[in-house]
Formats: sequence, structure tokens, C-alpha cells
Amino acid sequence: MRTRKLGRTELEIPVICFGAWAIGGWWWGAADDEQSLAALGAALESGTNAIDTAPVYGFGHSEELVGRFLAAERGRRERVIVMTKAGLRWDTDEGQPFFETKDGAGRSRRIFRNSRPASLRAEVEASLGRLGIERIDLLQVHWPDGTTPIDESMGALLELRGEGKIREIGVSNFSPGQMAEAQAALGQVPLASDQPPYNLLERASEEDVLPHAIEQGIGIVVYSPLHQGLLTGRVTADRVLAEDDGRRKKPTFSQENRRRVNAFLEATVAPIAETQEASLGQVLLAWTVDQPGITAALVGARTADQARENAAAGSLQLSAVELAAIRAGALNLELELPRPKAVGGLRGFIKRLARG
Ligand SMILES: NC(=O)c1ccc[n+]([C@@H]2O[C@H](COP(=O)([O-])OP(=O)(O)OC[C@H]3O[C@@H](n4cnc5c(N)ncnc54)[C@H](OP(=O)(O)O)[C@@H]3O)[C@@H](O)[C@H]2O)c1
Repeated sequence: MRTRKLGRTELEIPVICFGAWAIGGWWWGAADDEQSLAALGAALESGTNAIDTAPVYGFGHSEELVGRFLAAERGRRERVIVMTKAGLRWDTDEGQPFFETKDGAGRSRRIFRNSRPASLRAEVEASLGRLGIERIDLLQVHWPDGTTPIDESMGALLELRGEGKIREIGVSNFSPGQMAEAQAALGQVPLASDQPPYNLLERASEEDVLPHAIEQGIGIVVYSPLHQGLLTGRVTADRVLAEDDGRRKKPTFSQENRRRVNAFLEATVAPIAETQEASLGQVLLAWTVDQPGITAALVGARTADQARENAAAGSLQLSAVELAAIRAGALNLELELPRPKAVGGLRGFIKRLARG
């Protein structure tokens, strides 16, 4: 597993990290806890020693499971880098309304963006409790909250850092301007990272987020690098997704788009996968983490086999010719997508698609 320094911090993270959203059992349909724990175990044994979770993933459940995992074996906590988030609340109605959803039991939940200082503090305390740890290695503001000045949020996180409750401060879904505001408020403490969506089908970050991160030395840990499984070739046109699997409603998962993506994978990625003796998903993960400015990819896995397969991509190195061939092939891939609304533009549309 290749590792890289996260921005200007001392944290050294694997290029493939474990994304713990789906194991929370919300949005992706039901999850089996024992299977999820096995996935986490397989990931760690394969070199994936960093986990990204969030309070909202299963309304506490993902963090609780990660906590169970860390507590299961003596010394495990010390081996794992724990990255979580704060700033999305389902249990208060303060802040900026974000979206409505249903939890795993079918109850309606209203999600608010809330990065008010007192709320961030309450969330960090609750996360430490669920995770059963003394300090969070990377605390990321999940989404920008239009109702709270960024410097107030950063002030609260600096205090928590001073108290030893969090080690590094990062953000997620922040624009370059928002990152600059955060860094200005943090002063000498480096803004460790931003977490944008990025994969071969969603490359909007290349326009501004990645250049800004390169220029400022900010780490980038990308989410949905497999486009939620579509880029593995295993979401065939006839695969039936569970009733409560959020991917059913995503335009990129329409039958026609699945057909087009799979045809592209077969024509462009499969020959490279054959040469590299790797799977389609592994090739595209290796492609992702070798794009300029990207530190690591957060990959969701629901089973031990998926976790092992994804981890192995962290040792795969594609040639410059292979990297270029994949990008060139993707330029010819056209998907049927609704026209983006004028307000917010294409980037806003893509962000709404990837919301999670
Ligand atoms: N900051 C944010 O706003 C935000 C948003 C989204 C995600 N994230 C983070 O990023 C992580 C990863 O993103 P993601 O979960 O959206 O998408 P992803 O990593 O692109 O896709 C994960 C899904 O792909 C399928 N998959 C994974 N490995 C596979 C393999 N080897 N073979 C076949 N299928 C495989 C699994 O679903 P199936 O088996 O059901 O097909 C899995 O749940 C999340 O877990 C979360 O930590 C953050």
C-alpha cells in the first residue's frame, strides 16, 4: 500500500482509505453489521489503516461500528487513523436546511448544515463517545453551512484541537474560497484537507479545487472514487438495486447510462486491467489516486472481498500511457443526464448528485 502525507500535516495516510458510509445502513439499503466488521478487518489487514466515517452515516451507527471495531483487539486503535466529520445534524433544527431522508427504520429525518461552534463541540464529544477514543485524527466539516461564518467554526475546532480532542482539521465539499477563509482563520495551523467528490465520471474538482489544493499544500481525500460502484463493472444494466438503495434515483445509474458506462469500461479499461492482472475497479482507483493533487481515495466497501480488492489497488501503478488512455477514452463517454439548473451551475448539480 502506498502512503502519502496529508497536506502540510504529519499524518501519513494510505492512498486507499476505508469509506464507512454504506456500513451505516442508511441510503444504501440495509447493512449487516457482522459483514461490515469483517470488511473493516479485511481492509486493515490489507494495509487500509485509515477509516473515514461521519455522525450522519446511519445516524451514529457507522461511528458506533467503527468504535466496536477499534475496541475489538488490543492495539488496534493505535494502528488506525480515524477520520470523521461534524456539521450535519439530524437531531436539532438549527442551521441551514439541507435535505430530507428516511433512516434505516423508515423514519423521516431532516438534515441541517450546522457548523455553529457549540454544535461542533457537541458533535465532537458525541463522536468520541461512539468511537470510544480520546482523540479524532482528522475532523472534517462535512458541508459548508451558509448560516455560520467559517471563522467561528474554525475557532471552535482550534479550541478542540488545543484540548487534544482532535489532531488535524479538515473540510469537505468546500470551494477554494471557503478553504481560503478556513485557512485564514486557522492561522499557523494548516488546513489538513478537503474532501470533494472525484472519479472518472465526476471531474469538476479539476477546475478549481485541485489547483487550489496543489498551490496551498492542502491534502485532497476524494469520495465516491468508484462512482458508488458503477465504475467496477459490477453494476450491470440488469442488476436490481434494493428498494431503499439511493443509487436507484441517481441519473448516472439509469439502465441506459449503466449500459454506456459498462461498454466504455469494456472497451477502454478492460485491456489495461488484463495487462495489469487487475480488476476494472482497481485500475480506476489507481488512476484516481495518480491524478495531480489527489492524496488518497475513500472507498466504500460492504464485504471483506471488496475491501481486499480495493486495498490491492493501493499498490497498483499504471504507466503514463495507460493513465492517458483512460482519460482520453472517458472524453468520448456521453451520459444521458438532466440539464443542470441555471442556479448553481454544473458543479452544483454534480454536488447534489453526489450528496452523502
Ligand atoms: N464528504 C461527503 O460529502 C461524502 C459523500 C460521499 C461519500 N463520502 C465518503 O467517501 C466514501 C466512499 O464513497 P461512496 O461510498 O459514496 O462510493 P464508492 O467508494 O465510489 O462506492 C462504494 C460502493 O461501491 C461498491 N463497491 C466497493 N468496492 C467494490 C468492489 N471491489 N467490487 C464491486 N463493488 C464494489 C459497493 O456497493 P455495492 O456492493 O452495493 O455495489 C460500495 O458500497 C464513503 O464511504 C464516505 O466515507 C463522503
